Amino acid sequence: MKLPNDTIGFESSDDCAVIPYNDSSYLLQSLDFFTPIVDDPYIFGQIAASNSLSDIYAMGGSPLHALNIAEFPSETLDLEILSNILKGGLDIASQAGIPILGGHTIKDPIPKYGLSVTGRVEKSQLTLNSGARPGDLLILTKPIGLGIISTAIKNDSANQNMIDQAIKTMTELNKNAAKAMNIVGANACTDITGYGLLGHLSEMCKASNVSATINFKDIPVIKGVKTLIKKGFVPGGTKRNLKDIEKNIFHTENLSDENLYLLADAQTSGGLLIAVNSKKANELQNVLNSLGIISNSIIGEIRETKNFTISINQN
Ligand code: CO
Repeated sequence: MKLPNDTIGFESSDDCAVIPYNDSSYLLQSLDFFTPIVDDPYIFGQIAASNSLSDIYAMGGSPLHALNIAEFPSETLDLEILSNILKGGLDIASQAGIPILGGHTIKDPIPKYGLSVTGRVEKSQLTLNSGARPGDLLILTKPIGLGIISTAIKNDSANQNMIDQAIKTMTELNKNAAKAMNIVGANACTDITGYGLLGHLSEMCKASNVSATINFKDIPVIKGVKTLIKKGFVPGGTKRNLKDIEKNIFHTENLSDENLYLLADAQTSGGLLIAVNSKKANELQNVLNSLGIISNSIIGEIRETKNFTISINQN
C-alpha cells in the first residue's frame, strides 16, 4: 500500500507514528507498555498510562482515545491486582480527558501494562525531533533520576519522601507542558524515557543535524538521587545508555561518573525536552510556571554541528 508522503514511521526517531488526517491535522499513534516499577498495582497503572500518553504530548498533540495492552499471570496472581492496574490506567486517561475503548490481555508470568494511544495534532503545532535550530534554548519539564530511584525502591532502599516525589513525577501528565508549548510555539520536542536525557537529546540533535551544550548545574534532579548513585543503585539500562553515548559526548574531567550516570539515567514517564527559539524561552518558562509544571529549567542550548553531539558544562 502506498502511504502519503508525509507519513512518519520507523525511519524517524520521533515519539509517535504520524499519519496525514485532513488538510490541517495529523493523526498520531503510539504504543508503550512495561513491567511494574512500584509495588502498588494502582500506582503502576497510573505510571504506565501517563508514560504511554506522553508520546502524544511530545509531538504537540492531544490524545483522542486509547486501548489497554496487558500481560498477567491470572493462574498465580489475584485478578483484583489486574483490575487495580487497569483502574490506575483508567483514572489517568480520565485526567487526560479521553476514554479507554477496549484492549487485550494475555497470560504471562510477569505482569505488563500500557496503552496504545491515538491522538491528533494541528499541522502547525507538530513538534518533531528534527526541528531544533542553533541558538534554540532547551527546557526540561520534570526532574531526572527516576530510574535510579526505581532501582532503590526494588531494593527497599529509597525513603518514603523520595518514593512520593518519584511517584508524583511519573504520574504527572505532560498534558499541560504540551499545552504551554502549543501556546508559545516550539521548534522541537521529545519526552525523556528509556534512553535518558543524553540519549533523547542526542536523537534530537541527530535528527536536526545540530549539536547541544548542556549545563549540569541547571538540570533538575530529584532530591536524594545523588546519594543513591553513590550507594550503587544504577539500573543496567542506565549503564548501557552511558556506554552507547559515551563517544558522542564531551565533558571536562571533573564531571564525575555519578553525574554522568544521572544524565544517562533511563526514565519512566519523564518530562518533555523542548527546543525553543531563545526569544520565546522566557515566555515559555512563564506559561509552564503558570500551569503548575514541576520544572521549567533552561538546561542548555542547541549549537551548530560539532565533533561531539553533546557537550556538558560542569557549571
Ligand atoms: Co517518547
